[in-house]
Amino acid sequence: MSGKEHKYINEAFQTNWIAPLGPNVDAFEAGIAEYVGVNEAVAVSSGTAAIHLALLLLGVGKGDKVFCSSLTFIASANPIIYQGAEPVFIDSEPETWNMSPEALERAFEDAIKDDTLPKAVIVVNLYGQSAKMDEIAAICNRYGVPIIEDAAESLGAMYKGKASGTFGKFGVFSFNGNKIITTSGGGMLVSDDREALQKARFLATQARDAAPHYQHSQIGFNYRLSNILAGIGRAQLEVLEKRIAARRAIFQRYYDELFNLPGFRFMPELKDTHSNRWLTALTINEKEAGISVTDILRALSEENIEARPVWKPLHLQPVFKGMKYYPHNEQESVSGVLFNNGLCLPSGSNMTEEDIETVIHHIKQTVIKRKERAEMFSS
Ligand SMILES: Cc1ncc(COP(=O)(O)O)c(C=O)c1O
Repeated sequence: MSGKEHKYINEAFQTNWIAPLGPNVDAFEAGIAEYVGVNEAVAVSSGTAAIHLALLLLGVGKGDKVFCSSLTFIASANPIIYQGAEPVFIDSEPETWNMSPEALERAFEDAIKDDTLPKAVIVVNLYGQSAKMDEIAAICNRYGVPIIEDAAESLGAMYKGKASGTFGKFGVFSFNGNKIITTSGGGMLVSDDREALQKARFLATQARDAAPHYQHSQIGFNYRLSNILAGIGRAQLEVLEKRIAARRAIFQRYYDELFNLPGFRFMPELKDTHSNRWLTALTINEKEAGISVTDILRALSEENIEARPVWKPLHLQPVFKGMKYYPHNEQESVSGVLFNNGLCLPSGSNMTEEDIETVIHHIKQTVIKRKERAEMFSS
């Protein structure tokens, strides 16, 4: 928390707006819309709810196909299943770790042959790094299929001077507790299409018809964000730029200290993009490093330092067994390699210099100890 959240929460209590509507919700929506540069935003209870609403607005239903990045948190794809639709997973490419335009193109070529174009493409911007939106948008436009940009992790990131989350028909942000700014739980659906977002508001408030009594002509959802939580969001938005600067500085510290260890490769930042570096992520090539990601995770855990592996790709998840998957190319499944070798380091915006140094120290120590042991055995 930034310390200013109480101001807006107190206002909500003082004015008795303890509802999933109210001045904080309006101001938070307006603040996000202005910050990312879209016509409108709808505050909802989670990023997952925002993705679900986007699919509903695009008319995704039973039996429809939806293309979706494979290397992501499962929430990107779960709403496809809520709608009875079928996900088709698209691999990453090495420069952004995000959706491979090559794999996407092949998926579209097959879809055209089968006469089953997807109803939508969900493109994820992983760990704060924008996907190759120009290439991806060009392909999707050619086939006339709308993009839902899952920018849950990339609020504040930029791609060629334009805000992450504003490249598709709909953009999605998350304010889950672990995100760069948080409302404890919450999300935002953004778009330039005001009419569609009006419909999103309707669907998110139980699809209540404009009648003097409670009348419903279709099924809706209870997806709105409370005025209390939106108050937290308003204060958080005021410190977003500081948070991005902090996360980028944390990345830089890790990078400067660890980039020259053999086999350590940090998540790249594509030219003309500005990642929010939500998490500092890297891969460790075990053969070159003499140590695996699991070794590092274990060593850090012994010091009570929480690090995480990279997301397990969705095409490898048991729950999505048998679903179609398009690798980057015939030889290479990039998301699989990133999963096997990927590591996310502690990246909280409130980490102190001492915290960062402690993590760096233990990583270096683990590598050194492993090297000494290997040398002992070989001599
Ligand atoms: C890539 C991605 N998509 C979607 C979500 C879902 O957001 P939420 O947790 O707010 O539902 C998250 C995070 O939780 C995420 O990391």
